[in-house]
Amino acid sequence: MTIILGLESSCDETAAALVSADGRILAHRLATQEEEHRPYGGVVPELAARAHVEVLTPLIEAALADAKMTLDDVDVIAATAGPGLIGGVMVGLVTGKALAHATGKPLIAVNHLEGHALSPRLADRSLQFPYMLLLVSGGHCQLLHVRGPGDYARLATTIDDAAGEAFDKTAKLLGLGYPGGPRVEQAAARGNAKAVPLPRPLVGTAEPHFSFAGLKSAVMRAAQSGQYGADDIAASFQQAVIDCLVDRTRRQLSAGHPAGALVVAGGVAANQAIRAALENLAADHGVPFVAPPLWLCTDNAAMIAWAGAERYAVGLVDDMSVPARPRWPL
Ligand code: KG4
Ligand code: ZN
Repeated sequence: MTIILGLESSCDETAAALVSADGRILAHRLATQEEEHRPYGGVVPELAARAHVEVLTPLIEAALADAKMTLDDVDVIAATAGPGLIGGVMVGLVTGKALAHATGKPLIAVNHLEGHALSPRLADRSLQFPYMLLLVSGGHCQLLHVRGPGDYARLATTIDDAAGEAFDKTAKLLGLGYPGGPRVEQAAARGNAKAVPLPRPLVGTAEPHFSFAGLKSAVMRAAQSGQYGADDIAASFQQAVIDCLVDRTRRQLSAGHPAGALVVAGGVAANQAIRAALENLAADHGVPFVAPPLWLCTDNAAMIAWAGAERYAVGLVDDMSVPARPRWPL
């Protein structure tokens, strides 16, 4: 059985994982840099790159030990090559190249977004191509028609902020701290989603895209007005995001793309209210709903190893000249 070592270091999580070609997760290790970045209220690229350098090799060793393996047992090395913060991406990709070079094993340079996009197939091995994917993370908000490894049609994207970015900015505005998404979700659970009137940008329009900048400004005005409590603002904000995501996704589900399932992936897919709303939407359209477990939604290396497995299976291998790509659309 082919064993893939996956490396992830594109943002503020450093991770190493071992996955088999039939989708068994043999080991996954992750170190988050939350504490390093917390005083700054966001990710500081230089601090992130340094922290990746310090922990990546120990994480690889720990993952190998967890699986009771050595590098000899690994068949393929997969590393995130972008998009993300260039310093961090370099750390993982150069480490992957060094390991591939030293062992003579093939290297696969993985697009981080493809890692998210294929992670639902690692979680649910019965999920077949093609499927409709809502990819919602800190840097992206896209609807993708997923046809196979390396074969994606981008149907919609955000014209300004990503959904996760909107959560993070809202958390900052409300003084909820960092990282923002989970904090806003917790506050929202205590609040009234109808308390604050907020816009739903682009909902109901003929164009396919997402927009969250106007929502963010409205949240800022609501917070500054002093009229509303933080929990009510968080709940109203989360509901507005849900309405936008559901409306845009419904539009594509109705557009006739062949899709065996509605799938959600990326860090924002860890949000329970968003998952529940999308599950209802899928049920309305008579398609199964697939969402990876929470730990597989946020950044991790198992999804990178798995994307490596999927690409390796169809012969998509890279050579040592493959560059780090801080911007790399799927
Ligand atoms: O995929 P991810 O871990 O990193 C990127 O590739 O961006 O996504 C991180 C994003 C952050 O913006 C974070 O606030 C958001 O996902 N997020 C959430 C939740 N957990 C993480 N947003 C809403 N609700 C959550 N529970
Ligand atoms: Zn991500």
